Amino acid sequence: MCGIFGCVLKEGNAAPLIHASLKRLEYRGYDSVGIATASDGKIFLKKDQGKIDEVHKIINLDDLPGSIGIGHTRWATHGAPLKVNSHPHSDCTGEIMVVHNGIIENFMDLKNELENLDHNFVSKTDTEVIPHLIEQTLKENPKLGFVEAVQESLKRLEGSYALAIISTKEPDKIVCARNESPLVLGINGKGVFCASDIPAFLEVTNKAVMINNGELVILSSEGYEIRKIQDFSLINREPITIDWTPEMAVKQGYPHFMIKEIHEQPETLRNTLRIQEHYLDLLSTFLDRANEVFLVACGTSYHACLAASYMFSKLAFLPTYPVYASEFIEQHGKSVNIDSTILAVSQSGETADTIAAVTVAQQRAATILSLTNVIGSTLTRVSRVYIGTQAGPEIGVAATKTFTSQLSVLAQLALKLAKKRGKVSQDEMDSLEENLEKLPDIVDTIINTQEEKIKQIAKKYKNSKVFFFLGRGISTATAFEGRLKLMEIAYIPSIAFPAGESKHGPISLIEEGFPVVFVCPKDDCHKTLIGNIMEMKARGAHIIAIVEEGDQEMKSLADDYVEVPKGIPGVLSPIPFAVPLQLLAYYIALGKGFNPDMPRNLAKSVTVK
Ligand code: AGP
Repeated sequence: MCGIFGCVLKEGNAAPLIHASLKRLEYRGYDSVGIATASDGKIFLKKDQGKIDEVHKIINLDDLPGSIGIGHTRWATHGAPLKVNSHPHSDCTGEIMVVHNGIIENFMDLKNELENLDHNFVSKTDTEVIPHLIEQTLKENPKLGFVEAVQESLKRLEGSYALAIISTKEPDKIVCARNESPLVLGINGKGVFCASDIPAFLEVTNKAVMINNGELVILSSEGYEIRKIQDFSLINREPITIDWTPEMAVKQGYPHFMIKEIHEQPETLRNTLRIQEHYLDLLSTFLDRANEVFLVACGTSYHACLAASYMFSKLAFLPTYPVYASEFIEQHGKSVNIDSTILAVSQSGETADTIAAVTVAQQRAATILSLTNVIGSTLTRVSRVYIGTQAGPEIGVAATKTFTSQLSVLAQLALKLAKKRGKVSQDEMDSLEENLEKLPDIVDTIINTQEEKIKQIAKKYKNSKVFFFLGRGISTATAFEGRLKLMEIAYIPSIAFPAGESKHGPISLIEEGFPVVFVCPKDDCHKTLIGNIMEMKARGAHIIAIVEEGDQEMKSLADDYVEVPKGIPGVLSPIPFAVPLQLLAYYIALGKGFNPDMPRNLAKSVTVK
């Protein structure tokens, strides 16, 4: 998830506006920044790795000639956050410049083909194939105009993209295009703008034109022209008026980043399903060969590891050991060795406890694998193989979309391992893969159908002094995550444990009206969980149950319940069943007048041990 911007101004230099607009998109990514402008038939380029302010101080991003230009602020997915991988990317001649947000899935095939045609690639990105492809298309069809060459090249791209392209071939134009990644135009009397998001140009206009998938746009001093990529047919679309304040826009109209990021999960889960097969293959091969596997992380990421230990065991018969990173050195520091494999999980990739654990293991020759949402983070640099969870920048301190993205990647790894080890039948494999593909829509349904209900439940219990969160099997991990969300943003003491442990002590706390949240997917633990609910109810607990749609048995036992669409296999259930718990914590915090984005005493990335 990067930020792209482009503009064609009737007068004045474009660079300062591009710079300012990228600043308004910086929440989409801040690994590197770059601007290219066209003036007097030439292209001018400035780019470097680092946050916009840091780079601007060194290379002055405002100092480029020309009233036409494009810009990019990066969230690294392919290729570390280095200058060579920063956008804009160009063709061999430097006469075609491209900025891109999204993932080109067939870039390796295209790159091999173009390299065989003597194209020289300089970066590790997927994006760089685009300017070379346009260059090759023009070489093979010299009669083609630049816009047509772009159109033909786009037809060969697979994956998601929002693009803005300039060239010396037609230096008075910007060509932009969309397939899945967001793209919107801005219009005012002074020019036309294209951007990944409305915040980019809201300071200069609130007249916007939404661009749909499969559409290409030509921006010029005449205005904008929308055409279908497939057949170049013309599309008429009038601007709409946006009634947002710039501040609001960064949150896209949501009151807080946390609720925005909860609502982003259908999209971020789709992104995880586009992760390159060979990364999943590579990492699962290391797990397959491993003698012992430690799943090491902190906080929410640890809960993803806990859930993964059930997935790896149930699907691939691979025993794995989830360990709190802050305890790893004490617990395993002396025994970890060359036969050990560490799968470290960290949204930020910078959590000090996790880095410390990994460093000790590495010093004892263990194999380090990792999952992170920040490509180029410290963790990626100490890992033999790492996978980016593609959730985009998460600004809310409470992790939400990065948790479900971690779980989706871990589930894909478990399925890869199961396939390698032939531990599940083809039918079961097909059904699990089908259900994984359905999860983005299922999460969308939960948000659209249950959010209002969760608001009511939050209202009812917001003044509770304590909560229990319980589950059995893999839902123990979901319950732990629900507990953490409520504690970190609503500051209500909450206890989570495997439901089977209740009668070994914790049930002594139960008294009339004590709220107990149960996570109840229809899996192998369903029957036993009913017994645990009954023993709590018998002592006056109020049961809040996250149940499967139409599960009358559980619904009849619950004082309040939230429904999740039916048919989700148990090993995948933490992904959809976590979402109602995220919303419950958010609305209880809101009901208590707290700012869910800035919880007291916490930081987004804990870089101290
Ligand atoms: C979760 O909402 C918290 N922000 C926190 O527990 C977090 O999960 C933990 O600090 C680990 O962070 P990481 O995933 O960036 O390593």
